[in-house]
Amino acid sequence: MEHHIKELISQLTLEEKAGLCSGADHWHTKAVERLGIPAVKFSDGPHGVRAEDPHADRPYTFIPTICFPAACATAASFDVEALEQMGRALGRECQAVEVDTLLGPAVNIKRSPVCGRNFEYFSEDPYLTGKLASAYIHGVQSQGVGTSVKHFAANNQEYRRMGCSSDMTERTLREIYLSAFEECVKTQQPKTIMCSYNKINGDYAAEHKHLLTEVLRDEWGYEGIVVTDWGAVADRVKGVAAGLDLEMPGTGGMNDRYIVEAVKNGTLSEKDLDKAVENMLRFVFSCADSRREEQLDLERDHALAVNIAAESAVLLENNGVLPLGAGQKIAYIGGFAEAPRFQGGGSSHLTPSQSVSALEMARAKGRGVSYTMGFLVDEDTWNDADAAAAVENARQADVAVIFAGLPEAFESEGYDRTHMRLPDCQNRLIAEIAAVQPNTVVVLHNGSPVECPWAGDVAAVLEMYLSGQGGGEACDRLLWGESNPCGKLPETFPLKLEDNPSYLNFGGDGRNVRYAEGSYVGYRYYDTKKMPVRWAFGHGLSYTSFSYSNLRFSADTFADGQTICVQADITNTGKIAGKEIVQLYVADQNGTVVRPAKELKGFTKVALAPNETKTVSFTLDPRSLSYYEEKINDWFAPTGNYEIIVSTSSDRKELSGKIRFETKRLLPLCVDDDTPLDVLDRDPRTHDAVQELIALIRRKIPMIPQTDDEDTAQEMGGDMEIPLKCFVIFEGYPREKMAALIE
Ligand code: BGC
Repeated sequence: MEHHIKELISQLTLEEKAGLCSGADHWHTKAVERLGIPAVKFSDGPHGVRAEDPHADRPYTFIPTICFPAACATAASFDVEALEQMGRALGRECQAVEVDTLLGPAVNIKRSPVCGRNFEYFSEDPYLTGKLASAYIHGVQSQGVGTSVKHFAANNQEYRRMGCSSDMTERTLREIYLSAFEECVKTQQPKTIMCSYNKINGDYAAEHKHLLTEVLRDEWGYEGIVVTDWGAVADRVKGVAAGLDLEMPGTGGMNDRYIVEAVKNGTLSEKDLDKAVENMLRFVFSCADSRREEQLDLERDHALAVNIAAESAVLLENNGVLPLGAGQKIAYIGGFAEAPRFQGGGSSHLTPSQSVSALEMARAKGRGVSYTMGFLVDEDTWNDADAAAAVENARQADVAVIFAGLPEAFESEGYDRTHMRLPDCQNRLIAEIAAVQPNTVVVLHNGSPVECPWAGDVAAVLEMYLSGQGGGEACDRLLWGESNPCGKLPETFPLKLEDNPSYLNFGGDGRNVRYAEGSYVGYRYYDTKKMPVRWAFGHGLSYTSFSYSNLRFSADTFADGQTICVQADITNTGKIAGKEIVQLYVADQNGTVVRPAKELKGFTKVALAPNETKTVSFTLDPRSLSYYEEKINDWFAPTGNYEIIVSTSSDRKELSGKIRFETKRLLPLCVDDDTPLDVLDRDPRTHDAVQELIALIRRKIPMIPQTDDEDTAQEMGGDMEIPLKCFVIFEGYPREKMAALIE
């Protein structure tokens, strides 16, 4: 439908303009009926449609919808197709319950395992996060429904989330905390972006001109609206000027009046307000024009939720005890067997259309398992009699499967965990059972990593994460071999919380939190430090096995504006069909700047029948090799060598090879007394000018051969690293001549 936006703006009163930029109530924007401007409706996501029932007599009554696995789980699928399918289903459900825009995906990076909201976020890695979130957005928006990529930006803890300032360098911000947003914006144009409550380097996200206008719109070309997180406004007028379009849920007209006053007294330009109004009009019309009749199909979508949960589970350990076999005596133990925790607490918590536990599934399928609860799901209390019954049941069985996990109260939106442990009662029971039953399997239900002190003493560990309403069914299929586990960890499981790179600074003092670890987040840190971890980023087992071979590149060298294709062959070497998640990491070998040992720059999930081989392909561009260079405020890959690793997890190297990249771009070079000789020798702009100085050292140390060879050059390095001033101090090089050279 054609809408004459500019004309509409000219017909709106100042009060109506201000009014369009805030909510009418908790979920709706305001309509302007006299001009045919509709209201639109938001609803929480991200892993389901949490639509309030308009006919209910109590608030917070939600229409039963599908509770898909939370992002902690779907990230482990490494499956863009699954995320897109889930997005399409969510979009259809939104249409059915008359929701115009779904509040998700949430793409904040898991800086620490104890952030209370990690279950809603994808990963410690921005590349994986960006790709999966983009697929989700693509799916939802293909149904004419908007998304809201949240929480922009650097909202990585719940502690004092309303006011704490996340303080970091521009490089850290760009590489780790903005990258996923950038990918979503550039590839999907989400209809909305939700700015976070916190400050970034001292400014509220809702008033952050650098982020909301310079980065988001000017650099990335964003065309949608920026909406606040619910209540994230400090100074509404400053927000309008910074590029904030919509305040939700609104302040009953108070902030609208401030906007009107500010325009009248000249502290806010009407042009800035008009920009927000124009964005809002495009947004509301695009939502309203996309509405269509749709019916909820809860059976079909439940089946999809089960499939995605099965794609997302990660088999962390297995000595062969899994899958379980018919004819074995199996004991199920632990409250999570009958009451699995499958979603997290807070604004994403919804009313599922149905859910079946793993225990109910096993009973329904006549698997003949015995069950002893052993511990409750929501308490850390030890009961001697219950525990003894569980240990006895386990001892008499062929295999004991313990359904463990984090109680609801341990992790939620609104607060962070203070430790990374399971309840003590669970750890104790697992240890006691493992002592009498060598075939002990632990199934985990948690939104974020936990310490697993018993990991070496049990036969298998299956990580279900918060797997949505289909989790129990998926778990049953996986345990009994009807599905083959094929997820991998989207985050590192450190041995203990203290190993995490943000440990010393996480939380901060409540006003400021320093991101002192910079880009060394997750495996970027553990790998660079060569630290042992419990399970590495990208780790996950299967009931079959895979081999990697034949790494090849479309060229050995590539340059600015070009791409290179990387291929490898993956073979299923086991006896059953399975899926392997193949990962590509890039390692800069030039030592040019402080950089993580390697970074994920590609992944793909490949399904293989027994003995089948398939070729996987990745495309790398200069950005894949780049870090964010603050000297040029841009991404930059230095000329030189890069190792390309194709592997099954971040701590392994199935295949590796070297490529070379050549760039004509040069970083600004500032030459002064302290500039070392080697820097000037390497730089084409100064190479010729310093040859006289190099000759001087060579005369002094004649055994240094003239060479372009890198290794010999490195040996010479000590002398080549001397700063220019030393030629004056030690070599008698005339001071005036040096001043002229520096000029
Ligand atoms: C959360 C958002 C959510 C919003 C609306 C906020 O507290 O941070 O993620 O979308 O509430 O419920």
